[in-house]
Amino acid sequence: KIPIIIDCDPGHDDAMAILWALASDKLELKAVTTVAGNQTIEKVTTNAIKVLTKARRYDIPVAKGADKPLIRKLTVGGEVVHGSSGLEGPILPECGFEPSNLSALELLIKTIEESDEKITLVPIGPLTNIATLLIVRPDLKEKIERLSIMGGGAYMGNWTPAAEYNIWADPEAAKVVFNSGLPIIMSGLDVTHKAYVTREENEILRAQGNEISVFAAELIDFFSKYHYEVEGFPGCTLHDPTAIAALIHPEIFTGVQCNVDVEVTGELTTGMTVVDTIGYKEKIFGEKVDKNTYVLFNVDRKKYVEYFFEAMKALN
Ligand code: BDR
Ligand code: CA
Repeated sequence: KIPIIIDCDPGHDDAMAILWALASDKLELKAVTTVAGNQTIEKVTTNAIKVLTKARRYDIPVAKGADKPLIRKLTVGGEVVHGSSGLEGPILPECGFEPSNLSALELLIKTIEESDEKITLVPIGPLTNIATLLIVRPDLKEKIERLSIMGGGAYMGNWTPAAEYNIWADPEAAKVVFNSGLPIIMSGLDVTHKAYVTREENEILRAQGNEISVFAAELIDFFSKYHYEVEGFPGCTLHDPTAIAALIHPEIFTGVQCNVDVEVTGELTTGMTVVDTIGYKEKIFGEKVDKNTYVLFNVDRKKYVEYFFEAMKALN
């Protein structure tokens, strides 16, 4: 099993990413750490605990992380997309356990240090906690297998025309992470916009009938409103679960290994991931470029939906 830590800001799609990880026999979810993003740190931490409570996984530690980006002000993404709690829609259980006494940073360090195997990090919110970890404990990089990140986009944004929310929210942190030298899989908007569930398919999910399938369908009911009404999409985009699927079903994705860097000073483009699929620097100037990231571009959507539904069915 691949040992993973999910660093998140639940968030409807964060919630579904956590559930998918729990269902997979290829992954071992060691810890969940939270970061302010879709909502305040208090709200997203409560939401993470409630999602694990819903799945009866009281054994997975949840630790509260950064309450704001490294140097910028917090702009919560959730009011528009995820509602005032960050997880509006389904009725949530009361918290079944308390957050860890450790901070997210401390729990990340402890989990990585204590693991016999290298850990895979799955950041699906702003990259504040992960950048802090890499800054304060660069020695731990050798115990990190890779990062499977939901964030960015080669050819599009969703918070500004140029930038995706997770990267835009803390671009300085994202820059640290992309330049860390660690291998990265990037599930950006290029692929996540193709990883959607239609209304008709969501009824199939609901009809599976078990508690978690119904819960996921209700999450999709709320989350899809924004995608239909504001973005005009054909279905509900499952951004964050893509970072999980990329680890357990890599064969359904295609991508390009290339250099990705992050714009932090742009007038119009702050938070943009600059994705060099062509390899310009190398081809024109002969400069060696660090192909730091495997950027996903396409997914077999039917298989993605099928595997996601199977996973929700496997949980009680
Ligand atoms: C990302 O922003 C949040 O709304 C989602 O949880 C996802 O991580 C998509 O841009
Ligand atoms: Ca998220």
